Amino acid sequence: MAAPDLIIEPLTPAIGAEIAGVDLSAPLDEATLDGIYRALIDHLVIFFRDQPIPPEAHLALARTFGEPEPPHPVYPHVEDFENIVLLASGPDSKPDTNGWHTDMTYRGNPPFASVLCAREVPAVGGDTLWASMYAAYAALPADIKAHIADLEALHEIGDFRDGYLAAGGAPSLSAAMAKVGCAVHRVVQHHPVTGRPYLYVNHGFTQYIVGMKRPESDRLLHYLFDHVDRPEFQVRFRWRKDSVAMWDNRVTQHYATADYLPNYRCMHRVTVVNDRRAAGTGEARSLAAG
Ligand code: SIN
Repeated sequence: MAAPDLIIEPLTPAIGAEIAGVDLSAPLDEATLDGIYRALIDHLVIFFRDQPIPPEAHLALARTFGEPEPPHPVYPHVEDFENIVLLASGPDSKPDTNGWHTDMTYRGNPPFASVLCAREVPAVGGDTLWASMYAAYAALPADIKAHIADLEALHEIGDFRDGYLAAGGAPSLSAAMAKVGCAVHRVVQHHPVTGRPYLYVNHGFTQYIVGMKRPESDRLLHYLFDHVDRPEFQVRFRWRKDSVAMWDNRVTQHYATADYLPNYRCMHRVTVVNDRRAAGTGEARSLAAG
């Protein structure tokens, strides 16, 4: 059923749409939630302005799409809300999400989506960019597509290693790597709802291509990481206080610019493990078919 009140304005041909006509702090009916989900599947990242939603409503909204992730292994959480990650940066806590990444691909089952609320933002700076991995894959030359079709890559905590080293040296890093583990994912994935192929390696967490010697793997991964970083695949969002972004973490990467120090920026993030609608059969397919 259509959600008549949603106003959906695409921001680029490849990725991103702004949605108006909805109050995210109120309980939403199924038609509206399905409309939001359809916009997410179509545009990969969706944005809402002027949504001062309290943490309870933030969590409740995320839960309508699937179960939230357990507490993050590295980031702190919002007081009394262990499923809401606190991403607060300023002069005493430097930002560390200024690199292209897909959240938590070191997990065997990385989260399907994230819902990010801007609590406090600098007057200027701190924009976030998202990139479509459908568009990145589609733009690859045919010989590269053939070369990577059956490859797999190992993902681990990557950029988080330094945090553990700083906190407790090599023993702390070893313990973290044993606890958090690693995962092997196919380099080309197919979206469970649309069936479309997308590229699935990211600079933050992908370490090497399984079965290749390190120099060969590094050459291929650097080529793919550079390829992802093209404006044609991207949307850049300028935050305001109470803006909300939701992205399909399967088929996107994002990069939070770190250009605002010594000013303060504070975001709350809930990641959703599994796509409740894709887990069923008919509903996800009928949404994808339009
Ligand atoms: C993230 O990497 O999930 C955070 C993005 C942001 O702070 O804009």
